[in-house]
Amino acid sequence: MMPPKLQLLALLAFAVAMFFLENQIQKLEESRGKLERAIARHEVREIEQRHTQDGLRERDSALSSLSDNEDDMVIIYNRVPKTASTSFTNIAYDLCGKNHYHVLHINTTKNNPVMSIQDQVRFVKNVTEWREMKPAFYHGHVSFLDFTKFGVKRKPIYINVIRDPIERLVSYYYFLRFGDDYRPGLRRRKQGDKKTFDECVSAGGSDCAPEKLWLQIPFFCGHYSECWNVGSQWALEQAKYNLVNEYMLVGVTEELEDFVMMLEAALPRFFRGATELYKTGKKSHLRKTSEKKPPTKESIAKLQQSAIWKMENEFYEFALEQFHQLDEELEFRQQVTFPAAPGSLCALFTSMSKVVCTGGLSWYVVGDVFFSSWPDLDS
Ligand SMILES: *[C@@H]1O[C@H](CO)[C@@H](O)[C@H](O)[C@H]1NC(C)=O
Ligand SMILES: *[C@@H]1O[C@H](CO)[C@@H](O)[C@H](O)[C@H]1NC(C)=O
Repeated sequence: MMPPKLQLLALLAFAVAMFFLENQIQKLEESRGKLERAIARHEVREIEQRHTQDGLRERDSALSSLSDNEDDMVIIYNRVPKTASTSFTNIAYDLCGKNHYHVLHINTTKNNPVMSIQDQVRFVKNVTEWREMKPAFYHGHVSFLDFTKFGVKRKPIYINVIRDPIERLVSYYYFLRFGDDYRPGLRRRKQGDKKTFDECVSAGGSDCAPEKLWLQIPFFCGHYSECWNVGSQWALEQAKYNLVNEYMLVGVTEELEDFVMMLEAALPRFFRGATELYKTGKKSHLRKTSEKKPPTKESIAKLQQSAIWKMENEFYEFALEQFHQLDEELEFRQQVTFPAAPGSLCALFTSMSKVVCTGGLSWYVVGDVFFSSWPDLDS
């Protein structure tokens, strides 16, 4: 038998050895973890690279298979007057040759944004059945029209741009009086009237009255008479509903470049090259209303007191919120193609942790992000 002192010593030595071993094992585990993460990172980078290369190749080959679908596509941009819509429409005209689609102007009788029921039927029939013009980009000052009400199977894609309501009104006010540098020769309705917007507001003129702010809500609300009932709460709700459910993308004048960028990412069949064109041709695509004088704080404050401004502004802020949310979610602006959806365009939406792809008409979810640590890979 060992003497008790020696026994204790042996036990101690054993404990120390165990502790040392545990420590070593833990260190090894840590190293293994590090190694695994490094390998994983490397693999993800490879996958990323492969996807980008495959993406380009696949996109070209898949374009032919997708083209059946996309060549049928109709986009309607029901532009609200004085929202810098001409700048954007010009981009559509500049790209239609290269990207092979048609641009058509919706010219309604007397520029009325609401069509009669006969015209609605005729318009829906014409747009839907006119094969020679597809794919098509329609634009015009016409309020939202729900194609499904007419029994159409494939409805068009709606897009739009809205603007701060007071700035839009000021722009429109001066446009009526001085025209712009786009068609300088054209005689405008109120030409010769030298009154400034501020003078109009303090005199309580009709061209700058709060009722004139009621335009973006009815454009999104649609053809129902209640939409044009100034100050209607129902119209505001309907406009919000349509913006979310019927429009693929609604941008704001103040951030037109982001709008163009997102549109190119979502609908490359039409808008490939749009961002580049917008950036390089900024000047030529900008249409300036001549002689425009910014309104004073007093004029703005006076307009902001009206219930109509509050509603139009609520709608504008609502649109802005939707737009910013999409803008933030679209973390990867470059195009990545995933095997799950060859040929379509995918993006990583961080807030959803999902890979989302466009499939002709709308975004759809393809799968979870295959690497949960993607956002901080490089950290
Ligand atoms: C739209 O139609 C009107 C006649 O209703 C015509 O005077 C005008 O020039 C047309 N505008 C365009 C851009 O075609
Ligand atoms: C659509 O309208 C245009 C212009 O009126 C016309 O030339 C064309 O033939 C129409 N297309 C169809 C399919 O009805």
